Amino acid sequence: MARPRAFAATYVAPPNIALVKYWGVRDPERALPYNSSISVTLERLRSRTTVRFDPSLAEDRVTLNGSPADGGPREGVVRFLDRVRARAGRPWSAVVRSTNNFPTASGLASSASGFAALAGAATAAAGLRLTPRALSQLARFGSGSAARSVFGGFVEWRAGTRADGRDCYARPLHGPGHWPDLVDLVLLVDRAPVKQVRSADAMQRTVRTSPGYARRLEELPGRLRGIRRALRDRDAEALFPLVMEECDSFREVCETTRPALDYLTATSRAILAQVRTLNRAAGRPLAAYTHDAGAHVHVFTLEPDFARVRARLARLPGVRRALQVRPGPGGRRID
Ligand code: DP6
Repeated sequence: MARPRAFAATYVAPPNIALVKYWGVRDPERALPYNSSISVTLERLRSRTTVRFDPSLAEDRVTLNGSPADGGPREGVVRFLDRVRARAGRPWSAVVRSTNNFPTASGLASSASGFAALAGAATAAAGLRLTPRALSQLARFGSGSAARSVFGGFVEWRAGTRADGRDCYARPLHGPGHWPDLVDLVLLVDRAPVKQVRSADAMQRTVRTSPGYARRLEELPGRLRGIRRALRDRDAEALFPLVMEECDSFREVCETTRPALDYLTATSRAILAQVRTLNRAAGRPLAAYTHDAGAHVHVFTLEPDFARVRARLARLPGVRRALQVRPGPGGRRID
């Protein structure tokens, strides 16, 4: 008799930082966004997830960073497993173990890396053989930004136009080595508040209530074109102003959401102001700030300017740590 196959797999996936933000869902049932987004996959940081389907289990057992998960985080994992079980035609419960090599509550996009890793591990363990594109299409049901963490380097998640979502998927624009001089200075700020509202819910509040949201959607195709071109040409002078314009647009629609969404601390705001000052003093765009739905700030700069930019920003009061991060590889199976 053939030995039963091991229904287990381990997958690692990195977080990403969005240069063009995903913020708004046009079809919640199919998890389809209003706009395409572009991100950089980050090296060194990762979620590592093992999934083992076990016919003898009565219910899923989920451990996140060594502790049993409950409430919302557990439900998110179980709902995602249900989707994989339905697709694979395997009803079994699973043991899920996931760890991050960075502080989970730090606001460093753990849902993107976490759900990309869960998608990779759960599908492999269930015997599904998905292409990276299909994996990105599945990962977005856990967390939209997870669709992009399947790939390394510079990644675009295309919103698509079809109602069935078949043209909605992430694809790599350029590999991690495309622009060796580009560096992301990640500035972790003190007392970053823990997220109160899931981004998936917060963004729908913006869609419903922010008076600036419709205009943002009109501006985005032009900004996406500009950012794609600047990345292709490795043109920092074109890229940096567009990245800040996009971040300002994202922040503006958050702040005009009712009730308002305010993700920044005084330190985050001081970093943004300091980047503007640096650029003015240099007479050229030396650096570009961006942030997601959290208080930490990513500052892109080129290698020759890195030390100067870091010296000015890492010393600001309230900056707890400054990490130098480059574009890195995407998710992969490791067992
Ligand atoms: C601001 O897809 O990460 O980071 O469903 O709450 O996990 P959850 O939301 P998620 O939202 C990402 C929002 C963003 C922009 C981006 O990464 O594109």
